[in-house]
Amino acid sequence: MKATAAAPANIAFIKYWGRKDAKLRIPYNSSISMNLSASTTTTTVEFSKVFSKDRVELVEEERFSDTEIDRVVRQLDVIRGKAGKNIFARVATKNSFPKSSGAASSASGFAALTTAAIAALGLTLSEKELTILARLGSGSACRSIPHGFVRWETGNTSEDSYAHSLFPANHWDLRSVLVIVKKSAKDVSSTAGHDKATTSPLFSKRLQELPKRMEAVMRGLKEKNLSLLGPAIEEETLSMHGVMQTQTPPLFYWTDATKHIMEQVARWRKKDLPVYFTIDAGPNVHLICESQDEKKVLNALQSIGGIESIIVNKPAQGARLIKDHLF
Ligand code: DP6
Repeated sequence: MKATAAAPANIAFIKYWGRKDAKLRIPYNSSISMNLSASTTTTTVEFSKVFSKDRVELVEEERFSDTEIDRVVRQLDVIRGKAGKNIFARVATKNSFPKSSGAASSASGFAALTTAAIAALGLTLSEKELTILARLGSGSACRSIPHGFVRWETGNTSEDSYAHSLFPANHWDLRSVLVIVKKSAKDVSSTAGHDKATTSPLFSKRLQELPKRMEAVMRGLKEKNLSLLGPAIEEETLSMHGVMQTQTPPLFYWTDATKHIMEQVARWRKKDLPVYFTIDAGPNVHLICESQDEKKVLNALQSIGGIESIIVNKPAQGARLIKDHLF
């Protein structure tokens, strides 16, 4: 009754911000993302009648907070409920990137946890069912289950709010150069932020504009056309952060370094370097470019101060079971 899964984080090209059902994590809009090759979570889950309670630990990093442990236990409860089994678990987790840095550790975390726990209980679910279960742990986690470039359909009920692959990882050799400007955990979690999204006067405007941007992202991906995809993902970032910054209470995730990089990106483009930014709920910037421009982007970043580290990601496969257990 033991299994281990590895799952990638993902970067959203069309963002999930705000949900029509908070408990079931059903979003107001569909979203699109790319799985990240160098930002993964590995989780081992073992269920045993010998355990008298759940034990959740983080390997080689600072410990999980009580709130984080509660959230993992709630997800284990959902999975135990699905399996009809009342049995405790030991869970160990390892991240390849800083937790809560805006590098989407909840996405890779709940995708890996759900995949491993289901296998440890001996259940076989379809990919669609797995994405629905992972979504209950963290919305964006459903997008870390399928391969490559993924779309999460908003849906109206739990059963039709699921994620599926649009294209495999090898469809387009894009890069997401993740620039970490601040490693410390965010002050406000995205979970708390989602619940206030509709207090922003920009929220309904954002929903109105989304179909057009969604169409540009879908076509940009299909045609592998960065000059179509790029402007749409930057607009989308500004739209989501516009909502965040005008909701009550407002959420300001950017630092001076974040803004400086956003400004530089526009200058680099003027000098014929095709690169675009996107930012999730945090200060760190994902620079999206094609593989042939990766080195130029890394070179350009050398002149910028305030950078803690850089993680170069390629499109990646989704969550999968692996043989090497963490304990
Ligand atoms: C800004 O998936 O972290 O990264 O469902 O509460 O776990 P919960 O929220 P989460 O929200 C991520 C929001 C985002 C945009 C995105 O990934 O689409």
